[in-house]
Amino acid sequence: MERTFREQLFFLVLCLSVLTGDSRYIENNEISNDEWYSLFNPELRRETPEDLMYRRPLRCLDMVAVEGQFTFTAERPQLSCAAFFMAEPSEVITVEFDRVDIDCGGGDFITVFDGWVMKGEKFPSSQDHPLPLFERYVDYCDSGTLRRRVSSSQNVAMLFFRIHSAGSSFTLTVRKHINPFPCNVISQSPEGSYTMVIPQQHRNCSFSIIYPVEINISEFSLGHYSNFPKRSMPGCTESGDFVQLLGGSGIDTSKLLPITDLCISFPGPIHMKIGCDNTVVRMVSSGRFVTRVSFSYRLLDSQELQMIRLNSVEDFCFNN
Ligand SMILES: *[C@@H]1O[C@H](CO)[C@@H](O)[C@H](O)[C@H]1NC(C)=O
Ligand SMILES: *[C@@H]1O[C@H](CO)[C@@H](O)[C@H](O)[C@H]1NC(C)=O
Repeated sequence: MERTFREQLFFLVLCLSVLTGDSRYIENNEISNDEWYSLFNPELRRETPEDLMYRRPLRCLDMVAVEGQFTFTAERPQLSCAAFFMAEPSEVITVEFDRVDIDCGGGDFITVFDGWVMKGEKFPSSQDHPLPLFERYVDYCDSGTLRRRVSSSQNVAMLFFRIHSAGSSFTLTVRKHINPFPCNVISQSPEGSYTMVIPQQHRNCSFSIIYPVEINISEFSLGHYSNFPKRSMPGCTESGDFVQLLGGSGIDTSKLLPITDLCISFPGPIHMKIGCDNTVVRMVSSGRFVTRVSFSYRLLDSQELQMIRLNSVEDFCFNN
């Protein structure tokens, strides 16, 4: 298979170009395939001893899926670095700066972003995030009041940094905290099952699986109103509460294409194979009901992907 998720993501990171609040930008990273592939090593999650504070150096391009203390030391000018942080779906992340020795006045910066940014696309999309975009960037150097501790709104966050002088460094601690009402989530793994619940809130939530997957939606309900007369609900958009299955190759859910919509008339279990790099279950909630959707998913193997590619004329995920 020539187009695996990792290659795609590798490409996205190569093209990483991000505007921060004050329009400083991250240029292309010069990273090797091996370096990027190593970010997704499943061993990552097992690297933490339970009760000791885990410590390791932070790399200029890094993926952190464990709690611990991470130190970056510049051995040469590092102008475009990014670290992706990730936790379980029901967790949020805090990033705390323990010691920072950078030259804010000389153009160095460390910015925490509430979500992930890749190739200019953001997760969660601006539509679905509770904060306005500018508030999702927290620059360590900004405004005299140095921000020591930043929390994410969902299970992913990231760090951008630029350091001009060799020897400059910083140390931060990453912690995970329980999120009683997870809304937007990027799945840590290519298989699993999940139940998304929106408890009578007027908001939209997305569960994003950044792999081509088989997905089964087993249940969708609108609280005790699930037997609401269908005639009063002509279409999904009009009903105010619905579930969308979206697919595409970027991470911004507002730019993905709809695969199917489910609303009041849930036709029963849905079973689909989706060859997209990103598959998203998005729930739109009016706040009138407790909405809930349950699904399970697993990674498609290369043979299945080949089949989808050969069989479907209209499959937009392979028609780029
Ligand atoms: C949720 O999404 C729908 C359709 O995508 C949109 O019309 C609505 O304004 C969104 N609601 C909130 C609270 O963002
Ligand atoms: C989805 O449902 C089908 C048919 O019931 C089953 O064979 C398959 O294992 C399920 N896949 C997942 C990922 O749950």
